[in-house]
Amino acid sequence: MDLFDKLKELHEQGLEEIKKATDEQTLNKVRVELVGRKGELTKILHSMRDVAPENRREVGQKVNELRDLFNKQLDATKAEIVKAVLVKKLEDEKIDVTLPGCEGHLGSKHPINVILDDLESYFIGMGYKVVQGPEIETDHYCFEMMNLPKDHPARDMQATFYIDSEDLLRTQTSGDQARVLEKHDFSKSPLKMVGPGKVYRRDDDDATHSHQFMQMEGLVVDKNVTMSDLKGTLEMIAKHVFGQDRATRLRPSYFPFTEPSVEMDVSCFNCDGKGCPICKYTGWIEVLGAGMVHPNVLENAGIDSTVYGGFAFGLGLDRFAILKYGIDDIRDFYTNDVRFLKQFRKEEN
Ligand code: DAH
Repeated sequence: MDLFDKLKELHEQGLEEIKKATDEQTLNKVRVELVGRKGELTKILHSMRDVAPENRREVGQKVNELRDLFNKQLDATKAEIVKAVLVKKLEDEKIDVTLPGCEGHLGSKHPINVILDDLESYFIGMGYKVVQGPEIETDHYCFEMMNLPKDHPARDMQATFYIDSEDLLRTQTSGDQARVLEKHDFSKSPLKMVGPGKVYRRDDDDATHSHQFMQMEGLVVDKNVTMSDLKGTLEMIAKHVFGQDRATRLRPSYFPFTEPSVEMDVSCFNCDGKGCPICKYTGWIEVLGAGMVHPNVLENAGIDSTVYGGFAFGLGLDRFAILKYGIDDIRDFYTNDVRFLKQFRKEEN
């Protein structure tokens, strides 16, 4: 085959190769093969010595023309490929602004925290401070300081989780009272505190019992604190949580750390006191324990009980939440089922 035929064939083949390339990588390969330093056109130039001298000029001219043509075609194809890639990218990344957005999953406050936060700010508003004691409490603070010496029969009601002979998972937040009483400087101010937190008792878990639940302890100590201060305070709490129409009543009770001791009932919000399954047909629902601080509790903390006195109360936050929201199983608070939890979103403030 003479060089002219070779050039003709290369012309056709080259254009065909360029046309077939659909991505930049292949096109580059074709470029190297055709017009590269070791490409087909260069090879032809190298074989020029075999060409008759009178034809050399023409061959040279043809090679140059073909190189220009290939380069032009290579550039044009490259531009097409770049454009096609861009178009595809734009197509793939197209944003339909009319599509609805993805809804984020907003968490919500746990119902017990809703009640807790609400009560805390309510008490802060009345001048109370919020204190928190340790969950691993000592026998000393949980019982002894609270007028429950080792042989006291009331300890039996709180069969406990002991960690060793002195430390236990606290069964009540009442120990917070002793810790604060010991430190408080009564020459500066009266003491008004609430102590919320987790407590633990050995209990068979069922719809109304859990081995772990939340309490809030309350304590007010000053000169001349009377039982009517206690009654007024408890009544305000009940109305704040359960509604202004609720009536309250105090029943005599017994707690080692208060004397006299009471339990407070609120009139049933379901039947308004007429009697229904929720209040077990009594018209009343028990909500908390309270009383006037026992002189021994004050004396144990080094406070002169002939000068100072006060009241205390302890309420179960789980119980408050159960009653307020009509929850029928205490375990729902602790199993973290979002279908349960998200129902309380509207209660957040
Ligand atoms: N600590 C008691 C309990 O766990 C609740 C309680 C009752 C606390 C009366 C008090 C109180 O401070 O005065 O059952």
